[in-house]
Amino acid sequence: MAIIDTEFTRMIGVDYPIIGAPMFLISYEELVVAVAEAGGLGAIPLPNFKTVEDLKYSLGKIREKTDKPIGVNIHVSGKFEWEDQLALCLDYGVKFFITSLGDPKLILDDVHAHGGKVFADVISVEQGLRARERGIDGLIAVASGAGGHCGTTPTTILVPYLKSKVKLPVVAAGGISTGAQMVSAMALGACAVITGTRLIATHESRANQAYKEAVMAAGPDDIVCTDKITGNPCTWLAKSIEDFTTRPELGSKKWKDLWSAGQSVAQVEEIRPAGEVIEEMVQEYLEVCQTLSGSVSTG
Ligand SMILES: Cc1cc2nc3c(=O)[nH]c(=O)nc-3n(C[C@H](O)[C@H](O)[C@H](O)COP(=O)(O)O)c2cc1C
Repeated sequence: MAIIDTEFTRMIGVDYPIIGAPMFLISYEELVVAVAEAGGLGAIPLPNFKTVEDLKYSLGKIREKTDKPIGVNIHVSGKFEWEDQLALCLDYGVKFFITSLGDPKLILDDVHAHGGKVFADVISVEQGLRARERGIDGLIAVASGAGGHCGTTPTTILVPYLKSKVKLPVVAAGGISTGAQMVSAMALGACAVITGTRLIATHESRANQAYKEAVMAAGPDDIVCTDKITGNPCTWLAKSIEDFTTRPELGSKKWKDLWSAGQSVAQVEEIRPAGEVIEEMVQEYLEVCQTLSGSVSTG
């Protein structure tokens, strides 16, 4: 298949500008390997690992199966042993980091010294400008309707807004799970997309079967955004939080019963291998680009 050449694919060394989202309790080594081997960038969130040893086991498994680039989401906050986690990731050759909590500056020098890049999750131009001041390499534009913690501005507005005001590479996050949606994000100026909700319903995701089926059955109206579960606005399958009363402790098994998903549940029709999802996105991306270019007449 063709290679799609963007600022992001050149910067990170992947064939396709698609990040398989780092997802709490969903993305582990199986999903990362499947996305990476399909030509995208697989990513894990470090809060999935209770100890540095657990993380080491996972990175070891990934490296047994693929030597392609991978990414991690790091929470640079007091809650995690992030210094040791970071050192381990760098030892394992991780070159792409997404920061979602805390000050990205804390990791920038180390990551840059190892030839890596750091992108920050942002939901506004103010956050984007603050991240730029700290020396960040790029932004993840977390839009409204995205799975997990989400913003309030749609992708169609947020991506070009960040591009024009912050002038850094922008990855679009939120509502992108098909090749056509990917074309739209790239047309808006994104250098890559991140897809999360679509990958919950894959063979390699660690979501349980009921969660995968609920994602397939749901439509956008079944998703609610609330801050009552984590303290920050986050999208959930409404039914899974109907009986919610108190926030579980970090590391509690109860998190498994609270199902986060974004509005792109609308595009999830079946449970498939993650590699096929990525390949299909790429194929559709190429077809849509061709159709669009064929519709333009210069005469
Ligand atoms: C179940 C779930 C868990 C998530 N957990 C994390 C996480 O731990 N760290 C993170 O950076 N993003 C997390 N996200 C957000 C994704 O990385 C990504 O930005 C988002 O899924 C993109 O929007 P989409 O779901 O519409 O594709 C999560 C998303 C979902 C659906």
